[in-house]
Formats: sequence, structure tokens, C-alpha cells
Amino acid sequence: MDYLPLHFNLKGQTVLVVGGGDVAFRKVELLIAAQAHIRLVALEIKTQLRDLIGQHGVITISPYDSEFIEGVVLVISATSNKSVNERVSFDARSAGIPVNVVDTPELCSVIFPGIVDRSPVIISVSTGGATPVLARYIKSLIDSVIPQGVARLANYLKGRRHALKECFPDFNVRRKLMESFLDSPGKEMAINNDFKQADGYLYQENPNIAQGEVYLVGAGPGDPDLLTLRALQLLQIADVILYDNLVSNLVLERARRDAYKEFVGKRSGYKSTTQEDINTMLVRLAKEGQRVVRLKGGDPFIFGRGGEEIGALIAEKIPFQVIPGISAANGCAAYAGIPLTHRDYSQSVRFVTGHPKNGVVNLIWNELVEIDQTLVFYMGMGGLASICENLIDHGMSKKMPIAIISKGTTPEQRIVRGELNTIVDIVAKERLETPTLIIIGHVVALAKKF
Ligand SMILES: C[S@@+](CC[C@H](N)C(=O)[O-])C[C@H]1O[C@@H](n2cnc3c(N)ncnc32)[C@H](O)[C@@H]1O
Repeated sequence: MDYLPLHFNLKGQTVLVVGGGDVAFRKVELLIAAQAHIRLVALEIKTQLRDLIGQHGVITISPYDSEFIEGVVLVISATSNKSVNERVSFDARSAGIPVNVVDTPELCSVIFPGIVDRSPVIISVSTGGATPVLARYIKSLIDSVIPQGVARLANYLKGRRHALKECFPDFNVRRKLMESFLDSPGKEMAINNDFKQADGYLYQENPNIAQGEVYLVGAGPGDPDLLTLRALQLLQIADVILYDNLVSNLVLERARRDAYKEFVGKRSGYKSTTQEDINTMLVRLAKEGQRVVRLKGGDPFIFGRGGEEIGALIAEKIPFQVIPGISAANGCAAYAGIPLTHRDYSQSVRFVTGHPKNGVVNLIWNELVEIDQTLVFYMGMGGLASICENLIDHGMSKKMPIAIISKGTTPEQRIVRGELNTIVDIVAKERLETPTLIIIGHVVALAKKF
């Protein structure tokens, strides 16, 4: 190991920064976050940096001199002048003060790691100065899997430390309690500020201690890169994943390998699971103590029956979280180059179910033909002819642009465009695979350009 990682307590300590440019700015930001007092020396200084330092330190406009080093605990040289950097490094080392010269490892006794800051949790990543770009890349990977709420978890556990010590004086008992807490749904509850429920798990006094939790997670429209960070985090801790038809295999591949995965959608060749069965399964699995991810295409609260599922969970007092996802409308529109609103063409957007009953789509058509709005029909392909006919009958222009997007956001995405009075014939000649989304409005015409 070339460098030993240590976390430096700089609260109220003076740090010398030499240089007044962008590089110095980034270092000063970190030092201020660490509550250090800054002594900045530079020939000239950017206004932004001067403003940033404000009350947090003293600025001297002058050439560097050895006397500036006196009384500081850390030195950072961020100038583009090689000989100044060398002198700063020499002076600091001679005085036994840690020194960092930006981008010059041979002049450093300490180097800055990539930092994931979820204070009080701090994670630092270093490649020993070999390749800072790689350190930043690894840092960004860590950043995406550590929830923001881990800070709350740390503070929660810190706040319970004394009480736990009193209840469980034996260190080994406490350690085991903590370990099993971090493996329990209590951890997620603390992350989400539900400290009362979390306490039940921490002190193991909750009568429902074996109870798990259900996460209703939006999987987005298909492209796994459209999963939210929170969805990804929960997919990584799931014991069981119940997934729908619309959840792509690529999304499932992002889940924990060991999680038990069960398909509960409707697909030809499969026995379909009723909504009631799904509700019962969710309750049963949670009562067995499992962390259950209910993975739904798009967003769970947009034509996703998420409301019905949480109704069943509430009735059985099962803890749950709802994680929004990118809905098909947002995903398909973006990937098809159709802005859902546009100052010149569309002032509002409506998400409508186009699911026909007995071949007829029953909607309040007068409202749907209002000008300057975009209509997005989910589940509308079966009723496409009825939708177009009704819109025209209620006054929408026959020439209104319309797009059908098949398998949006996936590598097999296809877009077919036309006008209200031509689209049915166009679609008849195409073999569009499900799922498909219909977008109607002047914004559709922009797809060609965008
Ligand atoms: C039961 S709804 C679920 C909607 C989902 N909760 C959402 O927010 O996107 C299913 C309909 O969503 C639309 N849909 C979902 N994913 C799609 C995709 N990748 N491409 C096109 N349409 C999609 C289709 O209209 C499909 O019939």
C-alpha cells in the first residue's frame, strides 16, 4: 500500500492554499465542507473563489513566501507555476506538514481521494495518484448504489448508541443486534425516517419482527439504464422479485443474482396471475419476513394498479415503499424525439387509457379535442380506429399528427407516424410488436427534426 487512508479532522484548523484559480476553487470547496479555516495566497484570485472563501478564511494577494506556512496543519499548492509548487512542497515537507500539490504526485506527501459524501458516512477512493480519472469513475459507481439516506441511517444508529449500551451491556450481543438490524427491513425504515418502526427491529421488540417489507418499484419502459438509483438499490437487496410482463430481461439482470424471481404478469403460454393472487402473495411473503420487490413496468402509479396493491398491504399493516419509475409516456416520447409539451404547440399533456371495452373506447371526447394539448394513449392499439374516429367526429383535424411507438426505449423500438385519417391503414401494413404507445398532437411533427 503506497498511501494509508486516514480521515483528517480539519474543524477550525488552518489550511494554506496557494493559487487562486479553478483548481484552488475545487479544493477550497472541500476544505470549507470540512469546516477548515482557509489561508489563501495568490497573485490574483477569481471572484467566485473570493466569494466562496468569504467568512471562511483570509486572502492575501502576494507572491508565495515560506512564512505563510507557519501554524497551518495542511498545505495545498494549486498553481500552474512549477517552481512555486516545488518550493511550497519543499517548505511543507521540511516543516513536517502534509502537502498536496495538485496533479503532481511526486511533490505530494498526501493525495486527495475521490469522495462520496453522505456525511457522517464518507467513502474515499484512491488509485494512489496513478489515475485520478479511474478513481472518479469508481467513485461514481459507488455514488449510484449508496442511498442518500445512509446519512440518516448513520445518525439514527449514533443516536441509539447509549440506549443500546444500557439495554445490552455485552459488546458481542450489541454487535450481533446491529448486524441483524442492518440485514432487516429496519435498515430501510431508518433510511426513510421511520425511526419508530426501525426501533422495533433494532431492539428486537417488535411483535412483527419476522415481518418483511414490500417495495413497489417502477422499472421504467424497458431500457435498464432508465431505472432510478433507488430502484437499483432495492433490486440489489431484494429476497423476492415479483415482476410484470413489461419488465425487460435486461432490467431483471440488474437485480441481485440470488433473489428469487417470479413472473406474475399476463403472457400467452403462461398461466396468468390475478390481481387478487398477487396481493395475497405480497402479504404472505412479507409476513414470512422477506424483502419483496414488486417490479412493475413504467411507473407503479400510472395505469399500474399500484394503488390496489398498497391498499392490500395497508389492510394487513405491511410496511411498504413506492419507488416511482419513468413512465412509458416519458421514455417513449424522449427516445422518439417528441417533446410532450412545447411552448409553441402544446400547453398540456394527458395520459389516457385507450383500452377498449367491447371494441369501443368510452372517453369524454370533448375534452380530448381541446387545442394545444398532447394526448398519450396507453393500451390503445386495440381501439386505435375508434380513438381516431371519435377525435375526428368531435372536431379534431383529420391531419393531426399521430405516432405509434412500439417497444419504446428498447433496441427494438419502432416508430410509425401518420395523421388521424391515415394511421389505421399505415399500421395495418406494419407488424408492430407490443407494447405500443400512441401519441397525438402537433408535437409529433417535431419527431422528424428531433
Ligand atoms: C398497464 S400499462 C402500464 C403502464 C406503466 N405503468 C407505465 O407507467 O408506463 C401498459 C401500457 O403501457 C404502454 N407501454 C409500456 N411500456 C411501453 C414501451 N416500452 N413502449 C411502448 N408502450 C409501452 C403500452 O401502452 C402498454 O399497453
